[in-house]
Amino acid sequence: MAQLAIIGGTGLTSLKNLTITHREVMHTPYGEPSAPLTHGLLSGKKVVFLPRHGPGHTIPPHMINYRANLWVLKQIGVQKVIAVAAVGGIRADLVPESLVIPHQIVDYTWGRCHSFFEGKDSGVKHIDFTHPYSESVRKALIEGCNKAGLSRSEHAVYGATPGPRLETAAEIDRMERDGCDIVGMTGMPETALARELDLDYAACALVANMAAGRGPGDITMQDIERHIKAGMNKVRLLLEHTIPLI
Ligand code: HPA
Repeated sequence: MAQLAIIGGTGLTSLKNLTITHREVMHTPYGEPSAPLTHGLLSGKKVVFLPRHGPGHTIPPHMINYRANLWVLKQIGVQKVIAVAAVGGIRADLVPESLVIPHQIVDYTWGRCHSFFEGKDSGVKHIDFTHPYSESVRKALIEGCNKAGLSRSEHAVYGATPGPRLETAAEIDRMERDGCDIVGMTGMPETALARELDLDYAACALVANMAAGRGPGDITMQDIERHIKAGMNKVRLLLEHTIPLI
């Protein structure tokens, strides 16, 4: 059974370099995960892949069943998770197609199911979330970048917004004052739910656009798609080099 899972984000609904062995349809007490699990081999290691937006990218960030996705991975024996996500760059040097391995997160989302622990039968639990990402998986990703010859930023704060709309320029100004370097819509509650289940979880973010008010003009979907297409090739290369290190 695979101990490593990759959660794919926008632009990574399938892993071209994964040799697929089988697919598995799973149900959870929290409802349906985003897709059947795809099991396979990547760089000679067993890996399970789950596209968080569904196989055809049909689930928007605020409708993702984050609890079912994390639960199902825990259920099948996964211990480590690499989460891939497209983000906007707030910090000036985080230009489109940059790779970022965030080390911290600020949560601006609301109205999502943020916990497995809802009192009564499921109990009450307060996880330590001082360091939200697994340092061992982060180190593997950083070392994977070194091996693949990819530059990256490994010190960055991810600001998680509710979506599905992009932010206003004033919201990005506020996030910058809060210390955020990148902005995305799926980092929370995914990261916290992984910690609640004791999964070693880290993220690999690809900058798809400059955040609102940080680029020369409006943000267009054509530009985002172009940068994601080019950047996801880097992500695939990074995964190939990272997986043997985990
Ligand atoms: N904001 C939020 N999420 C995103 C962005 C953005 O600018 N780009 C890609 N995902």
